[in-house]
Amino acid sequence: MTNFKKVIKTGIPSEIPAKKDLNPNISHAPNRKDMLNKEEKQLAIRNALRYFPEHMHTILAPEFAKELKTFGRIYMYRFMPDYEIKARHIEDFPHKSKQAAAIQMMLSNNLDFTIAQHPEELITYGGNGAVFQNWAQYLLCMQYLSEMTDEQTLVLYSGHPMGLFPSHKDAPRAVVTNGMMIPNYSKPDDYEKYNALGVTQYGQMTAGSFMYIGPQGIVHGTTITLLNAARKIDSSAKDLCGKIFVTSGLGGMSGAQPKAGVIAKGVCIVAEVNSQATYKRYEQGWVDEVFTDLNKLLDRAIAAREKLEAVSLAYDGNIVDLWERIVERNIHIEIGSDQTSLHNPWAGGYYPVGMDYAQANKMMANNPDAFKKEVQNTLVRHTNAINTLTERGMYFFDYGNAFLLESSRAGTDILNEQGVFKYPSYVQDIMGPMCFDYGFGPFRWVCTSNDPKDLSITDKIASEVLEEIMKNSPDEIKLQMSDNINWIKSAGENKMVVGSQARILYADAEGRMKIAEAFNKAITDGTLSAPVVLGRDHHDVSGTDSPYRETANIYDGSQFTADMAIQNVIGDSFRGATWVSIHNGGGVGWGEVINGGFGILLDGTKDADRRLKSMLFWDVNNGISRRSWARNKEANFAIERAMKINPDLKVTMPNIANDDLINGLDL
Ligand SMILES: NC(=O)c1ccc[n+]([C@@H]2O[C@H](COP(=O)([O-])OP(=O)(O)OC[C@H]3O[C@@H](n4cnc5c(N)ncnc54)[C@H](O)[C@@H]3O)[C@@H](O)[C@H]2O)c1
Repeated sequence: MTNFKKVIKTGIPSEIPAKKDLNPNISHAPNRKDMLNKEEKQLAIRNALRYFPEHMHTILAPEFAKELKTFGRIYMYRFMPDYEIKARHIEDFPHKSKQAAAIQMMLSNNLDFTIAQHPEELITYGGNGAVFQNWAQYLLCMQYLSEMTDEQTLVLYSGHPMGLFPSHKDAPRAVVTNGMMIPNYSKPDDYEKYNALGVTQYGQMTAGSFMYIGPQGIVHGTTITLLNAARKIDSSAKDLCGKIFVTSGLGGMSGAQPKAGVIAKGVCIVAEVNSQATYKRYEQGWVDEVFTDLNKLLDRAIAAREKLEAVSLAYDGNIVDLWERIVERNIHIEIGSDQTSLHNPWAGGYYPVGMDYAQANKMMANNPDAFKKEVQNTLVRHTNAINTLTERGMYFFDYGNAFLLESSRAGTDILNEQGVFKYPSYVQDIMGPMCFDYGFGPFRWVCTSNDPKDLSITDKIASEVLEEIMKNSPDEIKLQMSDNINWIKSAGENKMVVGSQARILYADAEGRMKIAEAFNKAITDGTLSAPVVLGRDHHDVSGTDSPYRETANIYDGSQFTADMAIQNVIGDSFRGATWVSIHNGGGVGWGEVINGGFGILLDGTKDADRRLKSMLFWDVNNGISRRSWARNKEANFAIERAMKINPDLKVTMPNIANDDLINGLDL
């Protein structure tokens, strides 16, 4: 047995390991605000010590107290493993169950130091998107996965492995919940408090569900959004060519924007306030050029637009400085958006203008009230600049980061006369009607051989499957199909893999099922050298209830309910998912969204074939049926089609009331 396997199987070591210094060369989570009173701090330390035998307590108790005081959280840095955490070949993980080994691989990828945003704090993306709350949970979880069989299920409560419970072969191997709260205790400060106590965590969407595949995960969706945004404002446009898109954020997800802008053939300008993030994306080749001088940057962008060049330019500074300079120079920008982490405005998601990154971090920890005021003042300036530019003809959309919501809460001029947001969310205008209502969403897969050759074989299989389907696709979805075929054909060339050998490809129910079936066959006949994990972003048709994002184009009042996401995860779990997850928060913030997802291992068996068909059909059509019931006409079309394909599907269809009848009522 390799040493790596032995260490994993050990779990929490019986002897206390040497103390570890923090790595100064990587990004660390900002210190969290001090929320707990003395008794609560004692409780947090008692809670943390539950993971360790009593003989370690005299050393660990003061150490954890210091971590809590310094960082606002207990990460248990001493227990960080010495080996490199990364996706490896599935057989390199110790296991009795191949499904459990696949989960180890996926969660390791989420904590890979080249991928995770603040790896030593177990944060994958979005500032607070955690895989685990502390290193003890990681060690214990990996140990359980290494020893479990196909007749057990690992239960994870917000990163805490509650244990292995007897189940059966068709049950999920892991059930993950993150941040599930009693609704009245789901305000942002509740998160700070209960996370500091060590009893809950913010799993974002894909971090806490082990489905993050690096910034590639979002590139495809962003490309589709930009292509369709360009077509929306210019009916003769095929893509973003000859247009400038201005936005912000080069973090976990937002880092995909410059790459997508170039794939969509436009000029993309992105402001990023954290130089470490800017240069990380530059070194990875995700952004082409970095500027500190705003005028030089804007001159370069204008020249590129004139030459119809596709290029991405980063501004190493605050987005508000960039917008204000654009206003001052009266430069026409075709499309604008924002991807700072405004779902988390007071704890490092959004940086105030007029001070540098380090100063802002200091103020955030030492004077949170003043910091909050600075953020709100910055949002006022931010909104004013956007308003001026949209009056001059720019198309602006909210990019699912709670920009509109937080701006309105900060009292900016963001509401129109009817009291609703002046700008649409990208889901209202683009992703909802053009993708989700038809069932298109961010399907993804990971080759557990960790071999790029397997990935390129899967790319080829997927593109052949889609081309075959496209021959008979109805006109309504032909454009989506051809965008997705173009994407998968050039996905390899675009060199987007960071970490595991993963691919994202937007597809509808038919596409997802047929691609999965073809992969499973290719594993059976040896074309692929090892099993494949399927999954998706939670940012999808059925997985997420989020009134300002995924379900922003639901207009029957049900956008504030979360039945769809809960039904979805329950339905996935008994139809064959290998693991399922359901989260509070993610994307737009704690208390603002319920989102869920799944992973399923294709191992070339008949069982896998049966499970994938049953689960994927449900996983997409659940959301389409709900969208159809909300009277979305694209979804009516898609669910009627699904019922023809599978006569066992019988969905309640809405009757449409006559507008004159309703408007004429005496109410
Ligand atoms: N639209 C989508 O499909 C989608 C997908 C994923 C995430 N999101 C949302 O987008 C946001 C960003 O996600 P992420 O994973 O990139 O988060 P992140 O925290 O990793 O990145 C955000 C970046 O914005 C930078 N930033 C903050 N304030 C700034 C300012 N004033 N000027 C310039 N830069 C600033 C931060 O330094 C950080 O690097 C989140 O709210 C997330 O939920 C949207």
